[in-house]
Parts: sequence; structure tokens; C-alpha cells
Amino acid sequence: MALQIVRDELVRGEAKEGDVHSRHTRKLLVILLCFFALPARSFEPVAAKHGMVVSAEPLASEAGLQILKAGGNAVDAAVAVGFALAVTHPVAGNIGGGGFMLIRLADGKSVFVDYREKAPTAASRNMYLDAAGELKPEASTVGALAAGVPGTVAGLALAQQRYGNLGLARVMLPAIVLAEEGFPASYPFSESLRADRDLLDKFEASRRIFLRNGQLYEPGQIFKQPELANTLRQIAREGPKAFYHGAIGAAIVATMQKYHGLITVADLGHYEVKLREPLVGHFRGFTVLTAPPPSSGGVALVEMLNVLEPLDLGTPNSYQSIHLIAEAMRRAYADRAAYLGDSDFVSVPVAGLTSPDYAAQLRHEILQAKAGSPVGAGRPARTEPAQTTHFSVVDEQGNAVSNTYTLNGGYGSGVTVEGAGFLLNNEMDDFAAKPGTPNMFGLVQGEANAIAPDKRPLSSMTPTIVVKDDKLRLVLGSPGGGTIINTVLQVLLDVLVYKMDVREAVTSPRFHHQWMPDELVLEGWGFSADTIDKLNAAGYKTAASRPDERSAARGHIGECQAIETDSNTGWRFGAADPRGDGKAVGY
Ligand code: DON
Repeated sequence: MALQIVRDELVRGEAKEGDVHSRHTRKLLVILLCFFALPARSFEPVAAKHGMVVSAEPLASEAGLQILKAGGNAVDAAVAVGFALAVTHPVAGNIGGGGFMLIRLADGKSVFVDYREKAPTAASRNMYLDAAGELKPEASTVGALAAGVPGTVAGLALAQQRYGNLGLARVMLPAIVLAEEGFPASYPFSESLRADRDLLDKFEASRRIFLRNGQLYEPGQIFKQPELANTLRQIAREGPKAFYHGAIGAAIVATMQKYHGLITVADLGHYEVKLREPLVGHFRGFTVLTAPPPSSGGVALVEMLNVLEPLDLGTPNSYQSIHLIAEAMRRAYADRAAYLGDSDFVSVPVAGLTSPDYAAQLRHEILQAKAGSPVGAGRPARTEPAQTTHFSVVDEQGNAVSNTYTLNGGYGSGVTVEGAGFLLNNEMDDFAAKPGTPNMFGLVQGEANAIAPDKRPLSSMTPTIVVKDDKLRLVLGSPGGGTIINTVLQVLLDVLVYKMDVREAVTSPRFHHQWMPDELVLEGWGFSADTIDKLNAAGYKTAASRPDERSAARGHIGECQAIETDSNTGWRFGAADPRGDGKAVGY
């Protein structure tokens, strides 16, 4: 009954301001969302016949589910999740960042919505270097100068308008309600604020909103965001022009001026979402739809799958499997560094890198060569906590959405737009601020990813959808900086090769090699001493994944949110990665 009221509210559309009845209903919506959003703790995947939503934060997953039940399709639900995460998961969920949404409709058509941030027009190649040509510490990671022009609002609104069934205001309602009425801080949320307090403390509005001027939110305390609610209401009412051409844009520019950032009214005015063809790969009879440039993720994923296709990969996480997969990883990441960048600005040899002939050459080299390699320059890899976030949605008709979006670092640049209540990204660090020098993820990148005005920084985000015989099979993606691509690869292999169910696959221990530094990083809890000894003896320099020094996360690799569908029965199986606090919900 109560759920019915909530559903009616959503079906009717935006709650009217001042309407006492709808205000009660809104409160009820929050209470119900909180109640249903208790984390799932079963080891089994969540099974549902009609629709499934998996995200990194339970309230946001519930918001998506409510939209599906209110008659929205997968795109409506995904957009609802995207806006809800901006409220309930501000470490990564955002309207001040950017990302990629891969959509596959039930009729087989697919599109890649690229709403990645762009460099401001005033950005320049050496903007983060000092007079001696060295990188200025934190210049590309902290503060307004680190922010690219945000794409999230334009991207989510465009996806919703083109591919959704409901109105934008309707799908934004759960986010607005959560911002307005507040929600109880979870333990991970409270811990992440504590972990990033030094960053947030540097900027007045961030200090006031996220740190309550020093009185940190404890688990269970209600976190309300009236300024953000007002911003979301404006977007719901006026569409993305409120953000790019209206009062919200003016607030962004004012904040830029205060903190010496570069984003101007003109930058916001000419931000453009790009609709691209998904990159398509083939692996053992499956079709893999994934991210084209400006992500490196899809190219590297397809390159690795091509290399691995005919090889006997042994049993999961055995020496043989780790060795062969790690060799594919090293080569794909070396190519990433050399060739990948925004293909609207530089020529990226996508066809060459993803061709089976090229993979055959690499495979030949792997089978001839001894494991391990000379040590290259580079900073030690560290695994990253969930500062980006992924969500997957499948609806009753079989439409599927795989979306990864980000502020880049946890709480992005640390800067909150004054009066508008949302954080800005530090995505400029994804460029090669000094080609050949590692970025915050230890990724070495080349000329193709040098900074240029209006260019998109190279990403590793890899939202992916797998299809077999034209039928949807798997929807997945992950945060994790440079580890994203390898996380997606391993979960995909776990399901398609090792026949794990989706819950086992997202749980299974992971490893990561990104070519430089020459180090094979393994999750500390998941591999036997025998296996590690054998890898060391073969020539690998192994290391246990280490926690990020600023974060409470325990050195996990990635946080995959995945949905598998059984094409015979139509059942959907969802699994949130237990490395995070996410939740799969279905009906
Ligand atoms: O686009 C990228 O590849 C990065 N900005 C992603 C950052 C990330 O995944 C952070 N943490 N988990």
C-alpha cells in the first residue's frame, strides 16, 4: 500500500511545491527508500524476473527500482540512479563531473553517450608545470584549476530525453526528495568524509556542507542538502539549460573566479555531449559492446580479449591463468600509454589495436618470452578506493544501461559550487600533464593525451555490455582508476570462461598489471602463497594491493556492479561487489 502511494507519486510526476499531501508523500518516500535500501548480504545473486538495478549505494538503487516500477525504462531508471548518487554518494556520484553511458535497447540498437568533461578553452599544454618544467604539486588534482567542464547534467538529460519514457522531472524526483528531506549517513559515507576531510576543509562551501564546519556526520545522522535540492529542482524544471546557461552556470563561474579556475560562461555554453558508436569486440562467440575513445577502456579490453581468445586459461586465479592474463594486461596498458587519447583531437589506431592479427602477434610474443620484464620508470601503483562509480540497469523489455561516471578523485577537486551545493571534478589530472610522467593513478601517458583546449582527457572507464546471439547476457563496469579495465576483464572472464555466477564473479579476488610500473598487484586476501611464489619464481614482481593512504578502503581492486541475464528463462541476476556497500535490487 505504502509502496503504491510512492509509485502513484512518481507516476504523477513532480511533486508540487507547497502541496502538503505530496510533502507527506515525499517524506514517506525517503523512509521507504531507507527501509528497502538496507544492504543485501546474501552470497547469491539477487534474482528478478522483470527489472534489475545495481549501484554502489542502496538508496540510489532503490530510486532506480521505483522508477522502473513507475513505468520508466532502463534509461529512465539509470538517469534516476545517476541523479540520486549525486545526493547520496557524493564521493563519486555527481552533477559536477562526467562519464559514459552505454545503452543497448531491446531491439538491438546501441549507443555510447559520451558526457566526459572537456578541458576549458583557456587550458594549455603546460598549465600544470612550473618554470623549470616540473609538475606543480596538486595543481591538477586540488582546487578549481583541476576541474574540467562538467558533462553529467547534459549527458543524463540527453539520454533521458532521447531514450527514456518518462519526463526528466519525474526521474529526478527521488534525488530531489533525498536532497531535501535528507537521509541517514551510512558508515562508509561517514568514513569517506572523515578520510577526505583535509581536502574538503580547504574550501568554504565544502567545509560547511560536507564537514558541518568540523562536526562530522556520524552514521545514522541525517544529511540534508537544501542547496543541492534547489539546484536539482531548477534542472528538473528547466532542463540542462539551467546548468549550462542559467543561474547554476553563473554560480560555477563565480566559484571559478573565487578559486582561480578556468571555466567560463562560454565553456559551459558550448559543452557538447557526443553520441558515439560503441566499440565492438568478439570473444568466443560473445559480442562485447564497450567504450570507444576518449576512453582507453574498450580498446584495451578488446585487445586483451583478442589475445586471450584461443588460449587455455586454466582454472581461475591459478598460476597459468594469472600469467597469461597479466601478460595481456601489460601489453594493452603499454599501448594505452603510447596511442590513446581523445580521438576527436588525435588519431588513435583503434582498428589496429583491436585487430585479431595484432593480437596474434602479441600472443606469439607472450608464448615465446619469459614472464616478467625490465623495470620501467613510474610511481608504485596503488589501488584506488571507489571514487568513481558504476551502475547497471536492465528493464522488463530487455533494454540495458551500463553507466560509469566520476569526479575522478574522491570528492573531486574538493571545490563545491557556492550556493549550488555540488562538487566539481578534478578530471584535468586524467590528461598527461607532463607526457611520460605518471598521473594520480600511476598511469604513464603519452603525447596523444597531452592537454589541449576543449579536448577530453583520456579515461579508463569501461562500461560494457555482452551479448550472445543478439540476446543480452551481461551488463558490467567498475570504478578504480587504472584498474577499471582489468576489473572489467576479470569479471567478464569469470562469467564467460570460468562459468562463475555473477555474484561469484564480482567477488572473486583480482589482480592488476598496468605495464608501468612493472609490478603485478594482487588483492592481499585472495591468492595462495604457492601461487605467489610461483609467479615470483617466473619473474613477476608481485605486490599485495595497498590501501590508499587517504581512505578507509582496504586496498581492493575495483568495485564492479553487474547484471547477468539468462536468455532462456528471462531471469535477471544482479550482484553488487562486496568490496563496496552497494546493492542489487529487482522486481
Ligand atoms: O576516467 C577515468 O579513468 C578516471 N577519472 C577514473 C577515476 C576513478 O576510477 C577513481 N576511482 N576509483
